[in-house]
Amino acid sequence: MEVFKTKEALRAYLKPLRALGKKVALVPTMGALHNGHISLIKLAQGRADVIICSIFVNPTQFTDPKDLEKYPRPIEHDLAMLDAAGCNGVFMPDVNEMYPSGADEDWHIDLGKAEFLLEGQFRKGHYQGVTQIVKKLFDAVEPDVAMFGQKDFQQVLMIKNMLSHFNLPITIVTCPIIREDDGLAMSSRNIHLSKTDRKNALVLSKSLQFVLDNFDNYTVEELETKAKSFYKNLDGVELDYFTIANGNTLENAKYKEAPNLVALVAAKVGSTRLIDNMIIK
Ligand code: PAF
Repeated sequence: MEVFKTKEALRAYLKPLRALGKKVALVPTMGALHNGHISLIKLAQGRADVIICSIFVNPTQFTDPKDLEKYPRPIEHDLAMLDAAGCNGVFMPDVNEMYPSGADEDWHIDLGKAEFLLEGQFRKGHYQGVTQIVKKLFDAVEPDVAMFGQKDFQQVLMIKNMLSHFNLPITIVTCPIIREDDGLAMSSRNIHLSKTDRKNALVLSKSLQFVLDNFDNYTVEELETKAKSFYKNLDGVELDYFTIANGNTLENAKYKEAPNLVALVAAKVGSTRLIDNMIIK
């Protein structure tokens, strides 16, 4: 597996492969890899000839500097996992390589109303930072296809909006959430959970599963109220939102008959903020 620190080295590697007609897939990550990321590599292998994984902890998408500072960076472990998964190349630039004029460089695009809903209410400017770095990664790799996890449901929507904004010819693939045996969605942040937090964190997948299992029995409002009640009297868990929404607009769904419904949740468990979702239809 090749490791690239600069865009120039990465482009020099990809150019002859492209000339041979090879298709390139990009799997963008911030590292601290788990089996969810590896599933993206595996799915990419079915769609492209050359798989590039990027590892870059992007400063512009963190609203809380403490969160950026404590973001896990187990780089040796990440490289070993990618190598074992058969990834062809890893792009690991430093901050100057991606932001030569400083991380405060100008970036603002219209991502639509959904930017300001759900995560957008709790992490101001987050999706501007995400789309800013993903556009830079797309420019560096020029992939045919890019893989993203469904766990960051709103992120995928924002990236698709960014793609339309710039009219980029890249296929975005949304990959299913990979869960631990007990239902917890895999996340790089799970390593921050204490033993008690880890148990409490199951409330996210349990409340979502409740909605899925009982969708035919209640109205949308009743389902949301019942799902939210899972979080009452649970010490150390603070619910930010639980919503059943239109998967295209993220607006709260009023009727069960509406198409593309998804249940989305965010909660702080101990000091770790977790998100999860399940597609209803
Ligand atoms: O999902 C992530 O890990 C990040 O938001 C991404 C897409 C790699 C951009 O930094």
